Amino acid sequence: MIVTIDGPAGAGKSVVARRLAERLGFRFLDTGAMYRAAALAAHRRGVDWNDAQAVADAANAANIDVTAERVLLDGEDVTAAIRTVEVTRLTRHTAGNPQVRAHLVALQQRVVAAADFVTEGRDQGTVAFPNAECKIFLTASAEERARRRHADLLARGETIDFDEVLAQQNDRDASDATRTVGPLVPAPDAIEVRTDGLTPEEVVDKLAALVQRRREA
Ligand code: DC
Repeated sequence: MIVTIDGPAGAGKSVVARRLAERLGFRFLDTGAMYRAAALAAHRRGVDWNDAQAVADAANAANIDVTAERVLLDGEDVTAAIRTVEVTRLTRHTAGNPQVRAHLVALQQRVVAAADFVTEGRDQGTVAFPNAECKIFLTASAEERARRRHADLLARGETIDFDEVLAQQNDRDASDATRTVGPLVPAPDAIEVRTDGLTPEEVVDKLAALVQRRREA
């Protein structure tokens, strides 16, 4: 079984998707980590971000291995390195690159073929796994999402103020929603769940109940 969880940054996808996978006994795939690792690979190569082919070549040449706990880039643990503000900002160059998307979607499909999975991203129910048995679109208000991301960054020792986090998030939302390949849109058969005011545990309870209903259908 495949459960896809798509939605904007800060909706709580990663925590919730991970815990849902644990609850169900499924494996978990964070596809955003792949776009981030590809951006880090291109950054380290010093590519010209205006050169889409160079960005795609760097992503294709990179050996990206995402497990439930760690992200490896050419064998090096980059789990923390892909979460910096800088890499987060640069990731739009890989996420907006059609060749990179095709490459990473194919990689996601290979990984997920092996077991029951909860996958998390922006295009999982629309592009990567259109036949998934259960599709969730997880969302929350822009302010709530920025508050969570801000708290997250402070906890990781980054110094950044709330307004900047909100502005960066608005930029990312716009570029995620308007790109021509793999834009952030709910699949027609996705179930929308809003997480404002809910704890991660409450969201997981809701999602687990939805998955259970799909299993019984
Ligand atoms: O979920 P995240 O913040 O780690 O995602 C990082 C970036 O990658 C974000 O700008 C959206 C993009 N992304 C994507 O385009 N498609 C996916 N399946 C997952 C993430």
